[in-house]
Amino acid sequence: MELMDMLMQRRSIRKYTGEEIPQEKLEKVIQAGLLAFSGKGLAPTEMIVIRDKETIEKLMGMRSNKVVMLEHADAAIAVLGDADKSDTIIEDSSIVMANMHLMASQLGLGSCWIQSRLRPASDGREADDFVRDILGYPENMKLEAVLALGIPETVPEPRELPDPKGPKVHCEKW
Ligand SMILES: Cc1cc2nc3c(=O)[nH]c(=O)nc-3n(C[C@H](O)[C@H](O)[C@H](O)COP(=O)(O)O)c2cc1C
Repeated sequence: MELMDMLMQRRSIRKYTGEEIPQEKLEKVIQAGLLAFSGKGLAPTEMIVIRDKETIEKLMGMRSNKVVMLEHADAAIAVLGDADKSDTIIEDSSIVMANMHLMASQLGLGSCWIQSRLRPASDGREADDFVRDILGYPENMKLEAVLALGIPETVPEPRELPDPKGPKVHCEKW
């Protein structure tokens, strides 16, 4: 599939059937994340792949409004940036997330970004502290986001090809 078609087809999917994601597809999603480019090539991101349903259920509390999309998710991938390694962990982690989200879409999987940074958890703590207690990662690793993954219940309509001369594109000056 052409990259433009992939970009048009990619949508956030929050409802899953609860069926199992084939292991080879999950591994391709992980590989796409590991192929991400990063500031100075430092690759400061690591991930925790979670398939244990009890752990996924606990993660539903990572936001003040229960993360209901995790209810039927078959996997969740927490993306962490090493603050001791780089000062671009937010950008780097976002690229990892985007690569995985796009690859999931291309493989017919549903996925959605669950924001962690700057968001409180169900117990009022920062989402990062809440998730750290569940997953046990060290203090230098900062949770950027979690990708929920599952077999889509329904597939939303693809987006239309945008106009390259549209109102958001300024030529030469604002
Ligand atoms: C930085 C970022 C944070 C996001 N956080 C959440 C979130 O916490 N919960 C959620 O349901 N969707 C989240 N999303 C998904 C967006 O809501 C979604 O991409 C947007 O509504 C556009 O829809 P689409 O992805 O289907 O094109 C996030 C996306 C990004 C890029």
